[in-house]
Amino acid sequence: MSVLYSKTVLGLLTLQNHLVMSPMTRNRATDNIPNALMVEYYAQRATAGLIITEGTSPSPNGLGYPRIPGIFSAAQVEGWKRITDAVHAKGAKMFVQLMHCGRIAHPLNLPAGARVLAPSAVAAAGEMYTDAKGMQPHPVPQAMTEADIKSTIAEFAQAAKNAVTAGFDGIELHSANGYLLEQFIRPNSNRRTDGYGGSIENRARFVLEVAEAVIGAIGKDKVGIRLSPFGVFNDMPLYDAMQADYTYLAQQLNARGLVYVHLVDHSPMGAPPVPDAMKATFRKLVKRSLILSGGYDAARAESDLVAGKCDLIAVGRPFLANPDLVARWSSGATVNAPDMATFYTPGPKGYTDYPMLKE
Ligand SMILES: Cc1cc2nc3c(=O)[nH]c(=O)nc-3n(C[C@H](O)[C@H](O)[C@H](O)COP(=O)(O)O)c2cc1C
Repeated sequence: MSVLYSKTVLGLLTLQNHLVMSPMTRNRATDNIPNALMVEYYAQRATAGLIITEGTSPSPNGLGYPRIPGIFSAAQVEGWKRITDAVHAKGAKMFVQLMHCGRIAHPLNLPAGARVLAPSAVAAAGEMYTDAKGMQPHPVPQAMTEADIKSTIAEFAQAAKNAVTAGFDGIELHSANGYLLEQFIRPNSNRRTDGYGGSIENRARFVLEVAEAVIGAIGKDKVGIRLSPFGVFNDMPLYDAMQADYTYLAQQLNARGLVYVHLVDHSPMGAPPVPDAMKATFRKLVKRSLILSGGYDAARAESDLVAGKCDLIAVGRPFLANPDLVARWSSGATVNAPDMATFYTPGPKGYTDYPMLKE
């Protein structure tokens, strides 16, 4: 009897299985508004236990990439409502990932009046894609003032309320992969000398204040967080105190009672591995649910669940390429390979046209 395909609980929710669809940016939200094509994409994948949406901005300032959705306007809430309705009709639960891109943004990708913000005025190395002018160097962001910090926290809290209005079962704070929340945690991007920079207690302050604000808005049973200890994506180099810093974060997040902590291990994508000791520390310190992700197939997912390493397994690229992943994995059928060329391109190709079994 498989654990992976059996029902489980996440806080107050019952999930139809232990398989989570990882958050994946797909850049199909023209004008940053969820649309009918996205309804079809998510509904196709709603045999997962839990779907976590693509990174979704709580604010115009957080829309770093072209065609990513937001959840700050009435039209966006309306668009998401159609998606949560379609997903719930097929049995999955759904969290929206709140992603503020911070310095991983370009003015050409932002609406008029929006600003590229970060803890400090330090540009990320490298370039990013814009629809208007192709690849462009990352700009130097504006260092957030205390007023910016307060207004950004308020935007997260309002986005969390909007998520509940849109029918989501909860929100995931994107505190991984080099975006705004992680930019505060890491010393290379956070050079502040005020109460939000320096010691880990200070570098963690913004993330913890955002967590407290969204918990205040919608309750801890509806709030999860994603972290990438030892992640290096978006110019986030390794540093000596990484393990100690993330141990502190695990303690502090556990004290606030979030419904889950979701760890990213991008070693299957070429990143440094997350040491087993780090995962074990989270397992020990986080008393609610722990989600592990990165490079899972069905066999490894089952064995990590059976070994008690985590409570849920999140899967990205296999879900992208296999809308009926649960049916395929549970029956031992072959799987479609993901097409990288269409990960971020507009339209249905490589999005809603992956074949299902028995078509
Ligand atoms: C096309 C694509 C888009 C992604 N976008 C996001 C994102 O918006 N937020 C996030 O936390 N991770 C994002 N990721 C990372 C995935 O959630 C996941 O951690 C990664 O793909 C490794 O898991 P896998 O081996 O199961 O694919 C993305 C990955 C891919 C392939």
